[in-house]
Amino acid sequence: MPTTPYLSIDLDRVRANYRDIKRLFGERLEVFYAVKANRDPRVLKTLLDEGGCVDVASMTEIRIAADVGFAPSQMVFSNPIKAPGEIEEAYRLGIRLFAADSMAELSKLSKLASGSDIYARLSVSNKGSVWPLTGKFGVEKHDAVRLLLAAKRLGLNPVGTTFHVGSQCLNQDNWCSAIDACADVFDACAERGVALSLLNLGGGLPAMENMTNPPPVAAIAEGILRCVDKRFDPSVRVLMEPGRNMVATAGTLVASVIGEAERQGDHWIYLDVGVYNGLMEIHEKFPYELRTDHPEREKRAYVLAGPTCDSVDVIYHDITLPRLNVGDRVLFMNAGAYTTGYDRYNGFDFPAPDYRG
Ligand SMILES: Cc1ncc(COP(=O)(O)O)c(C=O)c1O
Repeated sequence: MPTTPYLSIDLDRVRANYRDIKRLFGERLEVFYAVKANRDPRVLKTLLDEGGCVDVASMTEIRIAADVGFAPSQMVFSNPIKAPGEIEEAYRLGIRLFAADSMAELSKLSKLASGSDIYARLSVSNKGSVWPLTGKFGVEKHDAVRLLLAAKRLGLNPVGTTFHVGSQCLNQDNWCSAIDACADVFDACAERGVALSLLNLGGGLPAMENMTNPPPVAAIAEGILRCVDKRFDPSVRVLMEPGRNMVATAGTLVASVIGEAERQGDHWIYLDVGVYNGLMEIHEKFPYELRTDHPEREKRAYVLAGPTCDSVDVIYHDITLPRLNVGDRVLFMNAGAYTTGYDRYNGFDFPAPDYRG
């Protein structure tokens, strides 16, 4: 057995998750897996072999995907704000599909990725999502129209729209209202002589078997397809960028108990994994199902903490688990997404030192 902490990944489950989505959404849906969820090359290779494509957020992710074998035409650069050097390099490698949600981004793209296909990111409701992604990106409908028309004037090729309903989205209505908003943008652009042809549904599909009790993906798919069929011509390309749904259920994060202590009446258990090395999503109170090797033991309440010296590094302040001893294993179930992915999240490096003196 590997030394803890480690992330055990079941590639068969990744494959099954991909096939489920294809089956539920039909062949029309093109799956662009969001690499940020887990950029393990074996995960990427599994999806490539299934016929999948990728959504990339940085040059690091692009390089990893290219090394695995994804062609530039199988990548979308969905990060709405990209460093000029990254646009330049991505374009040089052959990537031609970029998200944007500001005039400044269009200006960079027109200079560094001239003629590329551009889709505008809309700001949409994230109500009912466990990990909301609102505020930082996205524009209102009228601004999306303005940006897409401007893209054309700047020598780019406006092709469509995208959005993100929030990660682990439990509210099916978010998709339908977002799809409606995209259709309104398509209509407004058509009235001004710009025909759009690409609808990117973004991420947000929930991981199943999760403590948040998500609605079945089959029901979500049915709702999405109904909304798409109602408002969009069958000739429109439909993409989706699932991250969490593809990989969460395929991963089990395995940790060990490294210490215990009594503090002010609470019993503390310290693991070799915590907020700084894999459990970042605890910050949004992401609920993991925990298992131990001794479910038969008497249960007790614990404060569960990570290994660092930082007091922020507490996983759960009040959790009931079978009695634990130093050396016992603790398993975080359905942890294949957004755990090891936070090691240089999105592929962005920590600053390098610049020595003086
Ligand atoms: C642009 C974009 N697409 C897709 C995703 C994947 O989202 P999820 O893992 O919720 O499917 C993200 C996540 O942050 C994203 O930013």
